[in-house]
Order: sequence, then structure tokens, then C-alpha cells
Amino acid sequence: MLFKQQAQLKQKLLVLGSLAVGSVLYLVAHVGTLQRLQPICRVDHRLVPGPEQIPLRTLQFKRALLHELRRANGSRQQLGLQRLVQQLPQAIIIGVRKGGTRALLEMLHLHPAVVKASQEIHFFDNDKNYARGVEWYRSKMPFSFPQQITIEKSPAYFITDEVPERIFKMNSSIKLLIIVREPITRAVSDYTQVLEGKERKNKTYHKFEKLAIDSGTSEVNTKYKAVRTSIYTKHLERWLKFFPVEQFHVVDGDRLIADPLPELTLVEKFLNLPPRISPFNLYFNATRGFYCLRFNIVFSKCLAGSKGRIHPEVDAAVLSQLQRFYHPFNQKFYQITGRTFTWP
Ligand code: A3P
Repeated sequence: MLFKQQAQLKQKLLVLGSLAVGSVLYLVAHVGTLQRLQPICRVDHRLVPGPEQIPLRTLQFKRALLHELRRANGSRQQLGLQRLVQQLPQAIIIGVRKGGTRALLEMLHLHPAVVKASQEIHFFDNDKNYARGVEWYRSKMPFSFPQQITIEKSPAYFITDEVPERIFKMNSSIKLLIIVREPITRAVSDYTQVLEGKERKNKTYHKFEKLAIDSGTSEVNTKYKAVRTSIYTKHLERWLKFFPVEQFHVVDGDRLIADPLPELTLVEKFLNLPPRISPFNLYFNATRGFYCLRFNIVFSKCLAGSKGRIHPEVDAAVLSQLQRFYHPFNQKFYQITGRTFTWP
């Protein structure tokens, strides 16, 4: 009897011992996660008024919070969440369409001090929405703690004439993010998206070459929107009539695909946020062929399948013609922004 009890005790100790060793090994393996659970994180006072500190919540917490808010039907007091507010964005990703705007927004949302408007709001580029007023715009923003910053993205802003003045009227010191890719790649990506939409509706569509080159003059067709959108400097010049160049940050969309972390670190700096996005948060998914996002040890996600389409091959002569066309605009863009790319 005594022998049996001793054997049971030994077995229990063994199980407890293995659990303890397992836990230590687990914690060591996930030290990156532990870093994310530090209790306090200061957000630079230049972005958010007041010397308050914000709790460095995990994204899991943010998600649960939103879920609770939806369920609670507005009774924030009951949840002890009365400090939550809907803030106008302190930073906007204004474009460029197909530059990687969704990836940038989702990746910035890995930062515990960043909340994002999930949908494109189209407040400043859509007259009907704009007429609804700034409080309507605010109502579209997610709940956040006052020390967090809100970011939205609507890539149509970059190319729409009225937008710079409208944003300036709302907040003349807002931070503006522009993500660009090599202009021809971006134009082809733009074309591919429209093509897919036409195919879905069983409609026929011209080849990229036919749209990009004017058959009458054999010149590059600047009336074609996909071509025009990639003349970054032309659009930026309109914005510079309202905002100084220091208020813009240019993100390299091609680098965000290949190696996102350094680009995100630059954005954190531009937004005066403490660096919190780490290698732990990003992993390469070979099946998708892109980096995906890891929020914590349980939750990770890749972008939707509509991001990362296969582009059609473009005729070599048309490619060189487009390269010659974009070259002077690209040079000007480097000169204005102070960021040089290795575009042809
Ligand atoms: P392609 O579909 O041409 O590959 P936007 O969000 O502005 O529409 O940009 C879409 C582009 O984001 C995609 O263009 C894709 O290349 C790029 N992208 C950047 N990082 C990505 C990521 N981690 N996952 C998927 N797509 C990403």
C-alpha cells in the first residue's frame, strides 16, 4: 500500500517537473511575445496631447475590446471603457492605389498604439460623403484610447483634386503617408485589378499595351488612368500647395513586399511612435509568396487573396517606352521627396 502511494507521488512529481520545464522552455521560445506585454508605453506627446501613458495592450486585447463594444451596444460605462473615444485620424495613408496601401495599414495596426479604420472611408474624395461633415467622418472611426492614434487609408485621395485642401481644412498638421511602387509595376497592378473585375462580369477588355499607348500618336496615353496615377510627382505637386514636404512620408512599396520591417520602422519613427513592431510580428508565407502578420502566438493572418495577383506580361517595346516616359517624373519625385529609388 505504502509502496503504491510512493509510486503515485513520484509520478505526480514527475508530471509537475515536466510541466515546469515545459513552461520555462515555452517562455524562452516566446520572449518576443513577452516584450509586447510590457505594462506601459509612452506615446510621443507631439502626436497626442497630454503626458498620459497608455497601457501597451496586446492586439488580442484590442480585438476583444471591439467585440465587447459591439456586443454591449454602446454601454461603455458598464464595461469600464468610458475613456474610449472616436478620434479623427492623426495620420492618413493617402495612396497610391496598388502601392500596398492595405498591407501598410494592416502592418501598422500591429503596433499597440495604432488603431485603424478597417474600411476605406472616402470622405474627402466623395462629395456626398464630404457634405455629411466631419462628425460623420469621426463616426466612421474605430474606438481608441486617447493616447492611441487612428489611421485610415483611402488611396483615391492621392489623385483627387479637391482632397488636399479639404484635409488641410480639417487638420493642417496631419501626417500623410504615401506608399509607392515602381510606376510601371503599379500601373500593371492597377490594370490587373480592373481586368479581373471585367472578367468577373464576363466583359471583354483591352490588353494593357493597347490602353497604355495611344494608337493614333504612338505616344504614352496619359489619359489612361493607370498610367496617369503612376506620375507620382504630378499628384504630389498639388499636395505641396497645402502641406510642407516634411508632413509626408514616402514608403517603398516594393521593399514592403520583400522586407517589410525596415519600412515599418521608418514609419514608426515618422509617426513618433516607440518602435514596437518586431520580427516576431512578420513571417514569410511561402504558399502566399508574401509576408503575413503575427499578432500574438495564437493569432496570425495573411492579406486577402485579391492582394498579390499575377500580372500579365507586357511587351518589351512598350515597357521601354514607358520607362523613358516615367524617367523624368521619377527623377523629380526623388528630388522633391528626398527618397531615391532604383526605378529604371
Ligand atoms: P499586386 O496584386 O499587384 O501584387 P493595395 O493594397 O494598395 O491595393 O496594393 C496591393 C498590393 O499590395 C499587391 O499588388 C501586393 O503586391 C502588395 N503587397 C504588399 N505587401 C503585401 C503582403 N504582405 N501581402 C499581400 N500583398 C502585399
